[in-house]
Amino acid sequence: MIREAGALLMQYFARRVRIEYKAEADLVTEADRACEKLLIARLRAQWPSHNIVAEEGSGHQSSSEYRWYVDPLDGTTNFAHGFPVFCVSIGLECKGELVAGVIYDPTRDELFAAEQGTGAYLNGERMHVSAGESVAEALLATGFPSQKRHKNPNIYFYHALSLRSHGVRRAGSAALDLASVACGRFDGFWEFNLNPWDTAAGVLLVREAGGEVSNFSGGPFKIASREVLASNRKIHAELIELFQQIVNGNRLEELPQIQGK
Ligand code: IPD
Ligand code: CA
Ligand code: CA
Repeated sequence: MIREAGALLMQYFARRVRIEYKAEADLVTEADRACEKLLIARLRAQWPSHNIVAEEGSGHQSSSEYRWYVDPLDGTTNFAHGFPVFCVSIGLECKGELVAGVIYDPTRDELFAAEQGTGAYLNGERMHVSAGESVAEALLATGFPSQKRHKNPNIYFYHALSLRSHGVRRAGSAALDLASVACGRFDGFWEFNLNPWDTAAGVLLVREAGGEVSNFSGGPFKIASREVLASNRKIHAELIELFQQIVNGNRLEELPQIQGK
């Protein structure tokens, strides 16, 4: 099902789609809607009684203890501009716990999958988080939500962490960022203001690959939490400590003067 959805995205990607706006700088395309329609039809056909929460609003409400979180196209801004970094993300929750997650990157034909308690897999091969022991040696990732971007304090975190690590990537797909932590390409990832469909699958992937996921102060990550901090576990405490210092206004370097000003 998820490969079929990915193939559909690639068809739209090849012919470039028109950009529409949900809000200022919050984009949507016909590919988001077509892909969501396909996924909902497949899920409803197989599990008619389950709840479905889908980003573009075509979900299904029921009293089932199962709930699917569907992001038909994570990385819409990239997709709409022709930048090939996007994916399909589907997570499943049962009685409030994440039990399964799949993320498919159709541009690389990479399928990331995990079931609670059985490990995480990339194209069928077991995957693990990285072994990096310190932030100084880490490659990190973050994102900047398009909504209320002027109210987002993440630029301070981005600045501080960029100066203390091998770098902070901002590739534009939170689900792929989490999948990249799970398979060891990134050592850590954080973002403010994410939605359950952005995180459900990726959080389970990270946990099943041996990583850790929490809120910014180290408390439990909840699917309704707006903030997520995921890492290879080894650098988690150091990241939380740094975040605390940034929140308290410490260890924030002055921005350098722009030459000639
Ligand atoms: C967005 C991406 C992006 C993140 C935004 C999300 P969308 O999802 O995951 O990386 O920074 O917060 O909203 O809108 O492309 O599905
Ligand atoms: Ca998303
Ligand atoms: Ca989306």
